[in-house]
Amino acid sequence: MSVSLSTAASLYDRVRRVIPPIEWPAFTDDIDAILALKRERNAVILAHNYQTPEIFHCVADIVGDSLALARKAMTVDADVIVLAGVHFMAETAKLLNPGKTVVIPDLSAGCSLADSITASDVRLMRQRYPGVPIVTYVNTSAAVKAESDICCTSGNALAIVESLDVPRVIMLPDEYLAKNIAAQTKVEIIAWKGHCEVHERFSPADIRELREAHPGVTVLAHPECPPEVVAEADFAGSTAAMSDYVGRHKPARVVLMTECSMSDNVAVEHPDVDFVRPCNLCPHMKRITLGNIRAALEQNRHIVTIDPSVADRARQAVERMLAI
Ligand code: 13P
Ligand code: SF4
Repeated sequence: MSVSLSTAASLYDRVRRVIPPIEWPAFTDDIDAILALKRERNAVILAHNYQTPEIFHCVADIVGDSLALARKAMTVDADVIVLAGVHFMAETAKLLNPGKTVVIPDLSAGCSLADSITASDVRLMRQRYPGVPIVTYVNTSAAVKAESDICCTSGNALAIVESLDVPRVIMLPDEYLAKNIAAQTKVEIIAWKGHCEVHERFSPADIRELREAHPGVTVLAHPECPPEVVAEADFAGSTAAMSDYVGRHKPARVVLMTECSMSDNVAVEHPDVDFVRPCNLCPHMKRITLGNIRAALEQNRHIVTIDPSVADRARQAVERMLAI
């Protein structure tokens, strides 16, 4: 057996709960190649919590929610950052660490929230509500961030809104995140009509059915879910907050109202917790595969660039968020 084959083989123990043995051989060649390419190219892989377990647990160097990936992107010392996630995450990494080569394995890995708003929409909102600060979710293009005062993620949205110390803010573009934050603060929030195509599909009826089918199940929801869903959940928080909740409370049985890979990735760490699996796939996150991560490292593609006319202003909005 070659050394490289044994590298992938030793990783299987980590993911055996979530990857059936019959599927594993399909991954080993790419895993070995990616591990070698990372060393050759002095590259690191940043992977979002929605990446599949063979990416998240077997080739990623840094994993987390959007906030953690942004923070960690800033301090990466390697020459190349491969962003295993969606395009706005790769843009954020490039904004925060502009001297590095940032590549995304599939340029069309987008986001329905990012697609829901343009820079000129933000300018119109500013004209319509003069003087009201604009808080923009990181799930947006750099051009949209550049028109904003400050960014937020699902992990810090409440703290960001309250840090501004004003009676009213505009929060773009996720209507449900805005409403879920509005329910926790006295600050008046003006929302946009963008939605996450994954989380908008969950309904309160789903939660009731789950509670009936699995008595005692703990329900965790992402704040991109509609407010009626969050109201019926036991806890709502970012992908990292949901993962922490499982670690801290160790519920006997849990359901994560979010993207499918999240349960797999958290389940690997908590063999004693039973994960109930109704979930929705994010087609954008699922564009990233071991195959195109390998190609990204072999061919140095697809390099993420940011229009210089927006980069400085977009960076300021993200850096203001990270300073809070
Ligand atoms: P988190 O910041 O909670 O990881 O969410 C990112 C995302 O795209 C959720 O759909
Ligand atoms: Fe965008 Fe929703 Fe996919 Fe997250 S899960 S990347 S918000 S479409």
